[in-house]
This record gives sequence, structure tokens and C-alpha cells, in this order.
Amino acid sequence: MPKHYAVFGNPIAHSLSPRIHAAFARQAGVDMDYVAIQAEDFAAALSAFEGDGASVTLPHKEVAAALCASLGERARRAGVVNTLIRTADGWHGDNTDGDGLVRDLTGRRRLDLRGRRTLLLGAGGGARGVAPALLDAGIGDLFIVNRTPGRTDALADALGEPGRVHPRNFEDLGSLGEFDLIVNATSAARSTDFPSLPMSLCGPRTTAVDLNYGEAAIPFLAWARAAGAHEALDGLGMLVEQAAESFRLWHGVRPDTGPVYAELAGESLSLVSAD
Ligand code: ATR
Repeated sequence: MPKHYAVFGNPIAHSLSPRIHAAFARQAGVDMDYVAIQAEDFAAALSAFEGDGASVTLPHKEVAAALCASLGERARRAGVVNTLIRTADGWHGDNTDGDGLVRDLTGRRRLDLRGRRTLLLGAGGGARGVAPALLDAGIGDLFIVNRTPGRTDALADALGEPGRVHPRNFEDLGSLGEFDLIVNATSAARSTDFPSLPMSLCGPRTTAVDLNYGEAAIPFLAWARAAGAHEALDGLGMLVEQAAESFRLWHGVRPDTGPVYAELAGESLSLVSAD
């Protein structure tokens, strides 16, 4: 009997997660199915779901945390859940986003994150998922900027490291100087929505990474290249790595992400060059 998994989100039609998990399952010889479920009312959709585990994406990660009977350490610190595991007592929630980002940057991209002066744009579910893992990876000062200042302060407070974490406003960006790492965790995907950022944030040593991938990453990565960043990376690597960590939690095997990432990255390159 196959085991059943799903990813819940809204919108979800273009999610790559079903393909990624199907590729991991083939590689590991695991008998499972994994479908995408479009959910407006996440609580209702989850209670109708009879599967063994699930991924949770935009905009349900916070609600998912509230629906869990228990939370792993990473989900508790982030206050958001992207991975659900069914247990006898109800759902157990974990968060693999931060692990995924750090593995992509340090493993695939061979970046040394230690001491990096870092700017995090956004304070929603994505930002909250990755901030604790970046701090654990040894980055230097972490500046957080969000459109809604209350959320910036809430995230900074939750991280509990006032010496290293600095909430700031968008208007302050021009005076913050250059960063070694800039992470875009906003969902402002269209260039018309994307906030204008000063070029002075980027220098020849800056790595800019967007948690979005594909078209949604274009405005931020275009800005980073124009501002002279050393590297501008989208979130495809993180997507594959966080999925691999979720797969490990469900099935006890960590898949080899290299071939799956290479296939998807090859396709997105050919899509861009076909435009
Ligand atoms: P996610 O789970 O992807 O983080 P979210 O919790 O809705 O989704 O957070 C989206 C993030 O993008 C937030 O930081 C949001 O800023 P607000 O907290 O002020 O809403 C940010 N964001 C979305 N659209 C934006 C825009 N046009 N300009 C700046 N920030 C934006």
C-alpha cells in the first residue's frame, strides 16, 4: 500500500514539490504518492486529508503551527511549520526551510556564512523560517526590514538575540551600508510591487538570495545584479534541500539532491533563454 502525502498552499498549481518528491521516492525506492492540494481554508482541508504527512506553503505556515499537537525545536523557534507528520496524538510540525537555505548556501554554493553581515527583507512566514538557521550557521549581525514594522519587531524579539539582531525600517536602508548576504523573504514578486532598494546595500562581495524561484525571483535578482552583487541566487536550491529534509523526516532516508536540482535548474535556464 503506498503512503499518502500532499502539499497544501494557495496558489499551488505551479508547485514543483510533487515532482521533487516523486523523484526522491524513485531514488529511495519508497512507495508513496504526493499531490498538490489547493486550500483556501487550510484547517478544513487538513482535517479532510487522510494522508501520512504533508508539506505546507504560502500562506498557511502560521496556521499549520497552531494546528499541531506538538512542534519540533526548529518549528517552535520559527513559529511556522512547513512539514507535518501524522502521529497517534495528532500532527507533529517541523520546519525545514532554514535547514534547506543553509544547506543550499553552504553545501551547493560553498559559501562560508560565518561572520557575514546579513540583511533579511521580510518578516512573514518565509523570513521566520530561515532566520534561526542563519543565526545558528554563524552569520554576523542580522538586520531585518519589513514593510509592516510591527512584524519586524515581533520577529526580532522572537529570535532573542538583541546583540546580533537589529530591526530597521525600509526608510533606514540607505544608511545601513554594504551587506555580505542579502536574503529576500518578501512575497513582492511583481516588479510593480517590489520595493525600491538602494544600490548601496550591494558590493562586490555580496551574495543576494531570493527565497522565491522562477519568475517571482526576477525583480530582486535583477536589482542585485544591477547593484553589483557578486552572486544572485534564486530559491530553487533551497526548495530542493528543504524537500529533502522533509523526505528524511517522513521516510528516514536523505535523498541525493544533486540530480533533482540539476534537472530543474536546467529546465528553468532553458525557459529563461526561450523568452
Ligand atoms: P511568507 O510565508 O511567504 O513569508 P507572508 O507571511 O504573507 O508570506 O509574508 C510575506 C512577506 O512579504 C511579508 O514580509 C510582507 O510584508 P508585510 O509583513 O508588511 O505584509 C512582504 N511583502 C509582500 N508584498 C510586499 C510589497 N509589495 N513590498 C514589501 N514587502 C512585501
